[in-house]
Amino acid sequence: MDFPTQFNTYVTRAEQGIDTCLPAASTRPGRLHEAMRYSMQAGGKRLRPVLLLAAADLRGNPLHDPLPAAAAVECVHTYSLIHDDLPCMDNDDMRRGRPTAHRQYDEATALLAGDALLTHAFLLLSTRYSSDSELSRELVRELASAAGSEQLIGGQMEDLLAGKNAGATGAQLEYIHLNKTAAMIRASLVMGGLCGGFLDGGEMGTLRGLGRELGLAFQIVDDILDSTADSATLGKTAGKDARNGKTTYVSLYGLDEARVHAARHTQAALDALAKLPGDTTFLRELTSMMLDRKK
Ligand code: IPE
Ligand code: IPE
Ligand code: MG
Ligand code: MG
Ligand code: MG
Repeated sequence: MDFPTQFNTYVTRAEQGIDTCLPAASTRPGRLHEAMRYSMQAGGKRLRPVLLLAAADLRGNPLHDPLPAAAAVECVHTYSLIHDDLPCMDNDDMRRGRPTAHRQYDEATALLAGDALLTHAFLLLSTRYSSDSELSRELVRELASAAGSEQLIGGQMEDLLAGKNAGATGAQLEYIHLNKTAAMIRASLVMGGLCGGFLDGGEMGTLRGLGRELGLAFQIVDDILDSTADSATLGKTAGKDARNGKTTYVSLYGLDEARVHAARHTQAALDALAKLPGDTTFLRELTSMMLDRKK
């Protein structure tokens, strides 16, 4: 299968998994469940579930169904976007080509839909893997750690503080990117590896290293696109980092050097991939594609 076909196959599987893993929109209270589906089913690149499914496939057929875990990482990611867009955070009106959740509904509904998606992720991991309690525990630990106060939320906190204070140094910006973004990308790969069931401890460590580098490259490209792309292509408001006074790779280093940093982290990700067993062709192409993406 060529790369675009394989990518689309993974996206389709991930979206089917998301559909079956979420409560129906008609579940009471309808407004809340509709809002959860509104944000989850607005498209988006589905990078994290695709990474999870591809990591699970590294050595052939996975031992455990990775779809509920793929849906769980997308739930946490989407919750983080809903909250990231709120007026008290980045104050954004557009996400995934649609009005943000608080624009479509209202702030309280957006807040609750985010809360519910975050909680639902852990319900999925604890119920859908209950026949293997060790796996279930490891998946919960991995996702809880990546999404928690020392990673995703910690990164978001420092991102806001850097905007309010005098900006961030290079080291602080790396902390922000590692935690607000790379942590979830790393967790997706590791959870895929856990579902696959065939990687040893060293190989799981290599997957973590891959996630770190791919995650850093991904957020640097996000910063670059914010300052170079248009809103219609991005599906979210372009140019808002500068308007919000954010410290980004572009504000700190300039566009050219930011591109060099992104390429360096992409190369480090490819080096990590070269150490992994199994067929890494898809993950290699995906890593390169993320550097050149337009949205
Ligand atoms: C946006 O993530 C937030 C970042 C961590 C940069 P994505 O660019 O993966 O957003 P979607 O899922 O495609 O909408
Ligand atoms: C957000 O980073 C990362 C999250 C954890 C949501 P950004 O604030 O740069 O993401 P966008 O540009 O709004 O998607
Ligand atoms: Mg933000
Ligand atoms: Mg934002
Ligand atoms: Mg951004």
